Amino acid sequence: MNTGNDTTYDLISRFNHWVIALAMIGMLAFGTYIDDFVPRGQGQNALLQIHKAIGVLVLAFGLWRIGWRLARGFLEPAAPMPVWQDRIARLTHWVLIACIVLMPVSGMMTSLFGGHDIQVFGLFTIPGLPENKALSDVAGDAHGAIANVLIFFIALHAAGALKHHFMDRDATLVRMTSGRSAR
Ligand code: HEM
Ligand code: HEM
Repeated sequence: MNTGNDTTYDLISRFNHWVIALAMIGMLAFGTYIDDFVPRGQGQNALLQIHKAIGVLVLAFGLWRIGWRLARGFLEPAAPMPVWQDRIARLTHWVLIACIVLMPVSGMMTSLFGGHDIQVFGLFTIPGLPENKALSDVAGDAHGAIANVLIFFIALHAAGALKHHFMDRDATLVRMTSGRSAR
């Protein structure tokens, strides 16, 4: 539990953050590629199976990652900043955390309400539900819409990290990379 005294991220927090960051950005690119650049048919289906299987594993790891953060608590800012920036940063963190759950869950609902099983690399299979096209479509639309929200907030989040690093020259970025608490 973070007692409020921690000034930097422990190794597990840093590992969790970058694994999920890479996974979410990779899955956004992969999903967009499949949806917009691969012609419908067998090839698209095969890629979608991989997208779904990875997505379920990302959800599992994401839940562990969120649990770890909630158990340890959020850190106070690395350096003083205007209240509005602090509020936006905190809101952004919560939106990103919500998206780590909502992206895979909406994707799973798209498939399951579509009546399709989700096979996770031969490890296990989540059985499809009785087909409900309307619900599947709503979930699919949500999946696409939440992806756009996520892209916006990742861009804001990364821009904030770079601003702290290069303009404010504080420890915001380095405490998430090397774990140092000062520059
Ligand atoms: C883990 C995070 C995930 C991310 C970031 C992600 C991202 C995306 C993106 C960006 C698209 C293209 C959507 C569009 O342009 O409208 C997409 C499509 C799709 N994804 Fe995911 N996805 C994730 C997890 C999943 C999971 C777990 C499943 C199902 C088990 C899934 C099933 C689908 C399906 C069926 C489509 C194509 C059809 C549709 O959107 O209606 N996704 N995904
Ligand atoms: C290139 C992309 C990214 C960079 C440069 C980056 C950088 C950072 C930095 C420097 C922090 C520490 C902020 C602080 O202590 O005040 C942080 C925290 C955080 N980031 Fe990222 N991040 C990136 C991508 C992502 C992605 C894709 C997600 C999730 C979808 C994410 C979720 C979070 C969350 C929830 C926190 C709050 C602390 C935690 O729970 O780990 N980040 N990020």
